[in-house]
Amino acid sequence: MCGIVGYTGPREAYPIIIKGLKRLEYRGYDSTGVALQNGGIKVYKKKGKVAELEDTIVGKNLHANVGIGHTRWATHGEPSDRNAHPHQSASGKLAMIHNGIIENYSQLKNELLKKGYTFKSDTDTEVLLNFIEEIKTNNNCSLEEAVRVALKRVTGAYVILLLDAEEPETIIAARKGSPLVIGVGKGEHFLGSDASPMLEYTKEVVYVNDYELAIIKPDELILKNLGNEKITPYIQKLDLELAAIEKGGYEHFMLKEIFEQPQTIYDCLRGRLDAEAGTITMSGIEQYANQIKNARRIVMIACGTSWHAGLVAEYVIEELCRLNVEVEYASEFRYRNPVIDEGDIIVAISQSGETADTLVAIETAKSKGAIILGVVNVVGSSIARASHGGAYTHAGPEIGVASTKAFTAQLAVLTMIALKIANIKGTISHERYMLLLKELNEVPEKVAWVLKNADKVKKLAEKYKDADDFLYLARGYNFPVALEGALKLKEISYIHAEGYPAAEMKHGPIALVDETLPVVFIATKDAYHEKVVSNMQEIKARKGKVISVITEGDDLSTSLSDDVMIIPEADEIVAPIISVVPLQLLAYYIGVARGCDVDKPRNLAKSVTVE
Ligand code: F6R
Repeated sequence: MCGIVGYTGPREAYPIIIKGLKRLEYRGYDSTGVALQNGGIKVYKKKGKVAELEDTIVGKNLHANVGIGHTRWATHGEPSDRNAHPHQSASGKLAMIHNGIIENYSQLKNELLKKGYTFKSDTDTEVLLNFIEEIKTNNNCSLEEAVRVALKRVTGAYVILLLDAEEPETIIAARKGSPLVIGVGKGEHFLGSDASPMLEYTKEVVYVNDYELAIIKPDELILKNLGNEKITPYIQKLDLELAAIEKGGYEHFMLKEIFEQPQTIYDCLRGRLDAEAGTITMSGIEQYANQIKNARRIVMIACGTSWHAGLVAEYVIEELCRLNVEVEYASEFRYRNPVIDEGDIIVAISQSGETADTLVAIETAKSKGAIILGVVNVVGSSIARASHGGAYTHAGPEIGVASTKAFTAQLAVLTMIALKIANIKGTISHERYMLLLKELNEVPEKVAWVLKNADKVKKLAEKYKDADDFLYLARGYNFPVALEGALKLKEISYIHAEGYPAAEMKHGPIALVDETLPVVFIATKDAYHEKVVSNMQEIKARKGKVISVITEGDDLSTSLSDDVMIIPEADEIVAPIISVVPLQLLAYYIGVARGCDVDKPRNLAKSVTVE
């Protein structure tokens, strides 16, 4: 979390930094700040979003060709002006921004307090900065040297960018565990947490690795390891257009991303799935075909929405491949002593590819001999690079904080993986395999069909927007969709919502049901349908409000529901990719109707790079 931007070159740095920060606000928006080299270091910072900082510094002399900027998701210290980054060192000669957490900051702080340092903020960042300055002064060394020495003492995760008043053209950067991209231009360099701040200036980027330090001047980029050995920067070409990160006429990124799904699912299948020839081409999976075939089990590791995608995959892979699947919260997995044997297959699912818990869980599993397959959206991200193989989801940049198109793309990739394994293992008949390829191929147009009825969902949102609680119930393949529907509503509208397997309702949650409680059923036509219909009747009998996601033509469910959201007929294996879409719309429209900032819900950030 936290977004960082930097620039050194001949252009005006401030507009580049501000525009970059706006693109990175999805990473946190508790406070914003910039530091500019302008005859000494000038720092401007403020609690709140980037636009609020802009408003307060109108009229200031912001001329500078070198600068850094930060948008914060608070960890140490409440969101406030004084805890906002950049921080300045005691002498005022250094300025630093930081994304991550310095775990041993209190130990470092005590050492500095004994030496007479005082602190203006509650942040771990200011501690690290003064620790660096102390080393620089004591050793009479360069900032680069001081950073290297300091980082050897640091535990935790960081990307740091530093300015030094004595070296006004240079930015020093270092990374461990948080992302850093350097854009290489002609006589200029751009820095960002991802490539979005530099898209209109250069397509050549360097992804900095853990334990690397960069010394960046307008016409020079030096990369070193913490042992002071030079590393040749590996320059990659960006395959990302500016339009992909803009709203394109939609009111919110979230709505744009929901509506992009027919295209993003298609992009995800394109070039891989050939429904007529009966083939699925996924080289990052094929490489490990033998290991997968002989694996004792698959363990899915993920967080949040990506964890829900893993749960759907558990049902699908167990059914089609007769292979044991476990789905783990990365945050729990990494702190346990999990039983992982050599040859176990780990599927790490992540939109951002930067989620700290998932990344560490991968490393834990890797050290025990597991094979890591990443299902990741962001190309070149840390999880993608830490994986042995896998498949990208190709959903394009997801900017709305609530995950939508990344989820359906994850389901599409995981279903292809399941079909591929089932085919390799011979656990699926040829007819069923061919039918499911066809079904998967038809998903984009079925999602488009659902989206045509978005206005009906909007009307439902108006009707139910004032509810205090929601219950989401489903069985089988749709049960994780119930969890996902509830999560979307919680994060976007701040309405309390819970998802349950429909059959679990009678073991407790049914006590909540009264005439004010909306209960959303995902009741599409599948093997569980009759059972779900019985559960609907139980809710109706207790006067709960029943809202159902149903298959077109299902008159029985319609007669039992107060309101319905309809999806076209689809095989139960692919139905979750379609049935989740009306729930995304419902959450979105309720959030908007309640006046919530749906693209930037309170307390959240898109990329959770802290543990
Ligand atoms: C919910 C949401 C989060 C993420 C979770 C994992 O809408 O976006 O729950 O799914 O933080 O993030 P990734 O997939 O980037 O690892």
